[in-house]
Amino acid sequence: MTTSGKTITTRRTLGRSGIDVSALGVGCWAIGGPWTMDGQQAGWGEVDDDESVRALHAAIAGGVTFFDTAANYGAGHSEVVLGRAVADRRSDVVLATKFGYGVDEAAKRVSGVEVTPDAVRRSCAESLRRLGTDWIDVFQLHVGDLEPARAEDVRAVLESLVDEGTVRAYGWSTDDVERARVFAAGPHCASIQHQLNVLEDNPAMLGFCESENLASINRGPLGMGVLTGAYDGGATLSATDVRGTGAAWMKYFIDGRPNPEWLARAAAIREVITSGGRTPAQGALAWIWGRSPATVPIPGVRTVAQAEANAAALQHGPLTQEQMAEVARLLA
Ligand SMILES: NC(=O)c1ccc[n+]([C@@H]2O[C@H](COP(=O)([O-])OP(=O)(O)OC[C@H]3O[C@@H](n4cnc5c(N)ncnc54)[C@H](OP(=O)(O)O)[C@@H]3O)[C@@H](O)[C@H]2O)c1
Repeated sequence: MTTSGKTITTRRTLGRSGIDVSALGVGCWAIGGPWTMDGQQAGWGEVDDDESVRALHAAIAGGVTFFDTAANYGAGHSEVVLGRAVADRRSDVVLATKFGYGVDEAAKRVSGVEVTPDAVRRSCAESLRRLGTDWIDVFQLHVGDLEPARAEDVRAVLESLVDEGTVRAYGWSTDDVERARVFAAGPHCASIQHQLNVLEDNPAMLGFCESENLASINRGPLGMGVLTGAYDGGATLSATDVRGTGAAWMKYFIDGRPNPEWLARAAAIREVITSGGRTPAQGALAWIWGRSPATVPIPGVRTVAQAEANAAALQHGPLTQEQMAEVARLLA
């Protein structure tokens, strides 16, 4: 595809797996609805499953073929909704899910790390059931800080699941290169999922993914909404939304209000990233594509309009190297 004479790549190969996906994925955390993690609200509030399915279909209509979910999200509900959305087109999409915690579907509760071989196999079977599929394309370890020695054992089980045909490839959702290195030693490791957005670069992990031929799957690409322009300083989110709970790790929103420092930094680069008619959200995705050819951002969506707008970012492609340099200068 070309726009103004510039070639735009809208596809990615997921690292060594050879699995072909759109350069944009969709994150399915928010569509899981309410659930708790260790007693704290970890969902994004009540959801309308029919609207979620319509949003996923809109993403597919816009060219998206890659979907990221987890057993945790809605304590299994996100996988059920995603499975429902792709039931009649399973072979046309690539599904990534995650394991590693104890999930009580009925109570909508998640707690405790569970990564023994039996637990990994059980979690795989439960995800297959909820997704309504015979195979998982990318099975990811969700426990970002698992000790490397335990991760080696997990990697061995994942290799067995690949041999048995229930899993095509695997990855780890972690921001730590040394941990990523443990999984990269396995032949069927395809990807590392890590935090990446225009205000949170990670050159070390991007360099590692490129050198190891792993896909860099990017979570938090829109700063949980703060980078989209939808929130101003007066916005307040309720405690039924994980962003409004005041959790200590929540850097994008503080006590339910957008972090003013993030809003100011986003405003400083707005003119550059919205070039060519991009919205701020599309600009944030364009920065990620400009950062590395290994990147696959997975913005979360809750509505058809968001899914359509994000898919349309594919038509704009990455920022130019000049624009990337200008963003770096403005943020320095
Ligand atoms: N540990 C892990 O493995 C981990 C952790 C975090 C995330 N993830 C994955 O990464 C995915 C995405 O990351 P994230 O959840 O941190 O959030 P994000 O993608 O940075 O932000 C998503 C939110 O931005 C808003 N939004 C999306 N598109 C928009 C548009 N076009 N215009 C305006 N607003 C828009 C929506 O929220 P509102 O409409 O409410 O504003 C949406 O829910 C998750 O769904 C999940 O799959 C994984």
